[in-house]
Amino acid sequence: MPVINNEELIKEVSQKGFLDFEIDPSLDLFEEINKLKKEKNAIVLAHYYQEPDIQDVADYIGDSLGLAQKAAGTDADMIVFAGVHFMAEAAKILNPGKKVVLPDLNAGCSLSDSAPPALFKEFKDKHPGHVVITYINCSAGMKALSDIICTSSNAQKVIESVPADTPIIFAPDKNLGAYLIKQTGRDMVLWNGSCIVHELFSLKKITDLKARHPLAKIIAHPECEEPVLKVADYIGSTTGLLKYTQSSEFNEFIVATEAGILHQMEKASPHKTFIPAPPENACACNDCPYMKLNTLEKLYLCMKYELPQIEMDEELRLAAKKPIDRMLDISAKYGL
Ligand code: 13P
Ligand code: SF4
Repeated sequence: MPVINNEELIKEVSQKGFLDFEIDPSLDLFEEINKLKKEKNAIVLAHYYQEPDIQDVADYIGDSLGLAQKAAGTDADMIVFAGVHFMAEAAKILNPGKKVVLPDLNAGCSLSDSAPPALFKEFKDKHPGHVVITYINCSAGMKALSDIICTSSNAQKVIESVPADTPIIFAPDKNLGAYLIKQTGRDMVLWNGSCIVHELFSLKKITDLKARHPLAKIIAHPECEEPVLKVADYIGSTTGLLKYTQSSEFNEFIVATEAGILHQMEKASPHKTFIPAPPENACACNDCPYMKLNTLEKLYLCMKYELPQIEMDEELRLAAKKPIDRMLDISAKYGL
């Protein structure tokens, strides 16, 4: 078995992932992961879009804001981030002294990729005097070019924290941006990015479903396109959507976001029915291909070998931390 800190191993796992690693099939991975948590003083943070097994073994499951807050406050020595790269990177930005590992380094994000920092810098330079508010789904390079980071659960408060006469650039999600323009009445300049999962939902299929389930409430993430948001009964972050289904008097929901969230919805309200909103393509699923790169097996291996780790240049980290700190301060002020 390879050992930790072996340079070749680090290179192999960083480049290829855990492709050539075998796991003893007799191992109970839940038990092993829980053992590793104790041995290594590790915390497993998971996003709602992770596969159910990962959610079930996690110490904390949350939306992007909850995960960033948890990462900022942990006293664990190792943060195991079951999510995508920008989330693990944000945890590293907040915890330079801790090991932050991600089960699969290729777990990226189309929205983050839609805003390359060099191109965004040119865009920003064309709009002098604007405050840059950037959705957390972006790279550290983008964060370093931003004034305040936001997530879907605090974006409105973040925008309202900017004086009314100060123009705003909002990046990278044009759908969330357009939704926030409506919510806040602020005329923001939008970057043209989007999420491949949320822009695929089919309005026609959703309305057909609604016709077959007239009592169902349509709930949607604000990364969805406007026509879908228009028919939604409730719009919110993943945590917002989950809470809505728990507190709602209704029993049936058409859920327009990544299907991973259904696991917590079903666990919290076993007597209610949750129907994943169908995408435009022939595929019946609405999984995020990046989120679903993480598996329980890779989670176990990444804890065991403490690889692959998120590394970051210190100057970039400090520049990216400032707008995250501003977001965390604004969120704390409003009890978010
Ligand atoms: P939230 O969990 O913050 O709502 O974000 C959804 C998302 O798309 C994360 O990639
Ligand atoms: Fe990115 Fe969309 Fe996947 Fe979230 S669901 S990680 S925004 S591609």
